[in-house]
This record gives sequence, structure tokens and C-alpha cells, in this order.
Amino acid sequence: MKILVTGANGLIGRKTIKALQIGNKNQIFATSQRKIQANPNIEFFTVNLIYSDINKLVETLKPDVLIHCAALSSPDACEVDKYSCKKLNVEVTSRFATACRDYGTHLIFLSTDFIFDGKKADYTETDFPAPICYYGESKLEIENIIQDMKIGATIVRTSLVYGYEEHLSRSNIALRVIDHLKNGLSYRVPFDQIRTPTLAEDLALALITIAEKREGGVFNVSGGEKLSVYEFSKRIAVCFGFDESLLISTSTEELSEPAIRPLNTSLDITKAKILLNYQPTSLNDSLKILKNQLHQK
Ligand SMILES: NC(=O)c1ccc[n+]([C@@H]2O[C@H](COP(=O)([O-])OP(=O)(O)OC[C@H]3O[C@@H](n4cnc5c(N)ncnc54)[C@H](OP(=O)(O)O)[C@@H]3O)[C@@H](O)[C@H]2O)c1
Repeated sequence: MKILVTGANGLIGRKTIKALQIGNKNQIFATSQRKIQANPNIEFFTVNLIYSDINKLVETLKPDVLIHCAALSSPDACEVDKYSCKKLNVEVTSRFATACRDYGTHLIFLSTDFIFDGKKADYTETDFPAPICYYGESKLEIENIIQDMKIGATIVRTSLVYGYEEHLSRSNIALRVIDHLKNGLSYRVPFDQIRTPTLAEDLALALITIAEKREGGVFNVSGGEKLSVYEFSKRIAVCFGFDESLLISTSTEELSEPAIRPLNTSLDITKAKILLNYQPTSLNDSLKILKNQLHQK
């Protein structure tokens, strides 16, 4: 399979590329904004997608599948810089969708649980989206554009993705908890935000299954266990043998972050289990995998 992955310095892009390299079956192209570590088996493009000729990129490479991970993915960054959020999350993705239509490329787009208002729980793919922050709005806007274009595309909604790779574009909840606790520092985590945290390796495998099957439509792909961010952080502390009392259970209101957080965005992953044979790793095993990776670094 000829495959283009954008956002290759990010957690999801990195894990996806790693998984795609297994067995040497795929021809991989990748883009990122900052320079990417040299890898002889991948053709890299260091580009700012906002100012790139996306049509030309897709026309030249003609990938069978595009896994589009590049985004302004921090909800707070999107809230304070709505202009860049719109440019990258909506306009760039829309240009990719048009190019995918024109060159017969299957588009896999990464969306988020933040398209929901968090007042329900166990959201399915057909539940009504109602974002309450700009990041979620931008993702819903482009989801709708992609769906209206009626192209070969898959929208993958995921939640609180965690994992380790060197020199990541940005950290994630698990790494932040570990960094604080191992240094004896307290860390405030919300008890009222319920999520289905996702091991990045599980998501990467699901993306590859979708790419191989060209399975279109909307899919929730997340971990299989629903818990608060505070409980999740406690499970990390226990697995790593850190002092749990350094975790300070805090309300979302007290945290007062720039982007409003939806409270319960737990995702129902029944569809992915049936159609993609998706089997997320248990939380205990996921944390053991993460612990091994951090011990090896
Ligand atoms: N992580 C999560 O918990 C989560 C949850 C739900 C949905 N998602 C979605 O999943 C996708 C991937 O997430 P992630 O966590 O892997 O993201 P990430 O770690 O923030 O990585 C984002 C990637 O986008 C690239 N990028 C940013 N601005 C760019 C620009 N102007 N031109 C070209 N590339 C640019 C970054 O490149 P540089 O680092 O080189 O600048 C980086 O490789 C995103 O669409 C995100 O919204 C993530």
C-alpha cells in the first residue's frame, strides 16, 4: 500500500508510521512541520501545510490512502488562536479532501470526542454532536465538509490518546502525570471529566486496518474502559509505584482552562469491534507497555 501520513512528528503519526513499517509491505510518505528524524525507508516532507500546494503533493505522490494526523490538536491552543485552528484543522483538511477526491485516495481523518457536549456518555457514531469549545467546532465543521463531499473517507473519533515516543510534538496526559510524580511534584487532575483513554498503539493498528479494508464512514476508536482523568492518573501512579497522594483531585471549573472541557465524552466502540475486529488492550496491560517503553529509553 502506498500511504501518506501527515503530522508525522505527533504521537499518533509516529505510532502509525512505526506500525506501518512492520513487514516492509508499505511505501510510506510522511509530512511534518519541524524536521523529522532521518529514516531510510520513509520519504519525508518538511512542510507547513497551511502554505503548501496540497493538490500538488497528492497529485505527485498519488497515495492509495492518506492518514491525516496534522492538526492544531490542543483545545487550549485552538481557543486562543482560532485563526490558525481554522486554517489547519478546517481549510488544510478540506484541501486534502478535494485532492483525495481528485486522485482517488482514501482519506482517513482523525476527529475527536470533543465534538460532543459531554452531557450524555457512551457516545455512538450516530449521536448528535454539539461541541462546546472551538477545537471541537473546527473538527465538526470539517467532518461535515468531508461527509458532504461523499468521497472515499473514514472519520475516526478518538479520545485522550497516550503513549511514549522520543521528541514528540507535544506531551500527553500519561507522560505529564509520570513526569510530575516521579519528580515528587503534585499534579492537579479533574475528577469530573470522564474519558475512554486510548493507547496510541491500539489506535495506530485500527487506522491500518481501516486503510487496508478502505472501510468508510464514522468510527469511534478509543480504549475500552471508561473512567475519570483523576482515576486514570491514579491507575498510572499505582502501575509505576508513585505516591498517589501527589495527585490532587480537582474540578473542571477550578482548573479554568482556556477551552471549556466537555464532562463525559466516553465513546462506545461497539462498531469498531464488529467491523474492524478492534480489540483495545486493557488499561492494566497498556500501562505496563508504557512502563516498559519508558524503562528502555
Ligand atoms: N492526542 C489525542 O488525545 C487526540 C484525541 C482526539 C483526536 N486527536 C486528533 O488526532 C490527530 C493527531 O493527534 P496527535 O496527538 O498525534 O497530534 P500532535 O501530537 O499535536 O501532532 C500534530 C502534528 O501536526 C503537525 N503540524 C502542526 N501544524 C502543522 C502545520 N502548520 N503544517 C504541517 N504540520 C503541522 C505537527 O508537526 P510538528 O510537530 O513538526 O510541528 C505534528 O506532527 C489530530 O487531528 C488530533 O486532533 C488527538
